[in-house]
Amino acid sequence: MPNRVKSLLDGNKAWVRNTNRMIPDFFEQLAAEQTPTFLWIGCSDSRVPATEITGALPGSIFVQRNIANLVVHTDSNLLSVVYYAVKHLHVSHIIVCGHYGCGGVKAAMSNQSFGFLNNWLVHLKDVYRLHHDELEAIDDEETRCNRFVELNIQEQVNNLSMVSFIQEEWANGEFPYIHGWVYGLDSGIIKDLNLTVNDSKHLDGVYRYKKMMPVGG
Ligand code: CO
Repeated sequence: MPNRVKSLLDGNKAWVRNTNRMIPDFFEQLAAEQTPTFLWIGCSDSRVPATEITGALPGSIFVQRNIANLVVHTDSNLLSVVYYAVKHLHVSHIIVCGHYGCGGVKAAMSNQSFGFLNNWLVHLKDVYRLHHDELEAIDDEETRCNRFVELNIQEQVNNLSMVSFIQEEWANGEFPYIHGWVYGLDSGIIKDLNLTVNDSKHLDGVYRYKKMMPVGG
């Protein structure tokens, strides 16, 4: 087996030994069930792993990651994860966490073609178009990119708020809260963008659903 792959399996064995030493019944407990409090929607970037950067243990964060942490309403993978997290696991918090220096965001800002990836990046270009005036007014490219990262998180928090089964949860109670965060690759620090919502009041009226009538009602 190539050494690099073997190093992962060796790393796993060392991690199990360590964890068993620190928390003797850790695996027995986790094997029984998962009761995560959080759903994490983050970037696939290898430098932004949800549990490590938050010091959280396995079992606490349900995770969905894709390039540039997008919430696309035709992405049945993401929507299934969100649906399960909200309707079955009853997570209290959904965190959309982007990161400065995001390659996907940089790519979407450029006019370069990335082949098949363009079809994914077009969702980011839509965000750019929505905030065109603000972004174009920023001369420095890195500053503009960082602002684009933040605005993208804002739009993904909005996209989640538009999901009807999340609005259904809000109509029935307090949860889930949706938060927008951004991670600094160079500092390791997460910044809360203070975008937290648990209702759809911030959305344009056309995106707000009435309670669904019961079937046959
Ligand atoms: Co990224």
